[in-house]
Amino acid sequence: MRIEDPKFVAALRELEVELRPASSLSELTSLNIGGNTDLLRIKKHESIPALLSLLDSHGVPHRFLGGGSNLLVSDGELPWVVLQLASADPDVVVEGNFAQVDAAADLGRIVTYCAKHDLGGMEGLIGVPGTVGGALRMNAGAYGMQIGSYVREVKLYRAAARRIEILRGEQISFEYRHTSFAPDDMMLAVKLELPSKPYKEILQGIRICNEKRRSSQPLGQKSAGCIFKNPPGASAGRMIDELGLKGLSRGDARVSDRHANFFVNAGKASAKDMLGLIADVRERVHSTFKVELEHEVVIWA
Ligand code: EPU
Repeated sequence: MRIEDPKFVAALRELEVELRPASSLSELTSLNIGGNTDLLRIKKHESIPALLSLLDSHGVPHRFLGGGSNLLVSDGELPWVVLQLASADPDVVVEGNFAQVDAAADLGRIVTYCAKHDLGGMEGLIGVPGTVGGALRMNAGAYGMQIGSYVREVKLYRAAARRIEILRGEQISFEYRHTSFAPDDMMLAVKLELPSKPYKEILQGIRICNEKRRSSQPLGQKSAGCIFKNPPGASAGRMIDELGLKGLSRGDARVSDRHANFFVNAGKASAKDMLGLIADVRERVHSTFKVELEHEVVIWA
């Protein structure tokens, strides 16, 4: 979708929103899949309510993009524009056991930054790609921990109320890869409370998680992490593996040989290829195990 009206473009400039015309979502997602649209980069949180009113009044649909690491976007010209926060500087401020973090900050960088300030708890998240905002919205977790456990406050744009609000941790429910945020809420910043731990000890934990991840996940390849959620008491990866589906392909979309719940783009896979592969695997798991797998990856189709 293109924004061409000069008045609209001038209004964006006024709001300090940078317009990047005809951006390719394949360059903004870890799967390297996705079509083209205008990208609007937001420099000031305060301009968001006015920006969204502007988009509404011109009838321009939009989606919020985080780090693009858990996302499958459809091909071709996309029928909505994409909004993305530009990162704040500094993107994290530590005070005692609290870390005030910008939603656009890189998750891995924040885990190591906090570690250097002797704040632990998030070791398991090392190696999870994406932004803090994305991790928050999905309640990212690994190796027995989840980010939600450390959240004390969230600053967000509440789409329903059309304003920026601050929620306390107790007002948000964090479940397995699911939160009570509305789909169109936009994460802006989060205050985490982290346990004190000596840097050396945290580093040790980080090394162990890194090692586990390297040995079981296709880290060097283009993927969106796990495609399906684990059903209660079972493992999607193990079920897909047991069906002998590692290596199953549609075009360049392929079930990873290393971890069967990771689907990789082995070259120039299209969204159509990837969606076809996802539907095929889901169908086969259903017919054998009678389990309807739920997507873990977010799909913008
Ligand atoms: N397994 C297989 N074959 C495979 C993959 C896994 O037999 O191809 C078996 C493993 O041997 C193990 C079990 O399945 O016994 C579970 O596998 P793993 O420990 O790799 O964990 P997972 O349940 O597949 C979850 C998260 C990952 C997270 C890891 C580590 C989900 C959907 N996945 O994977 O998160 O990194 O645990 O904590 O919850 C993600 O969210 O994108 C993600 C990758």
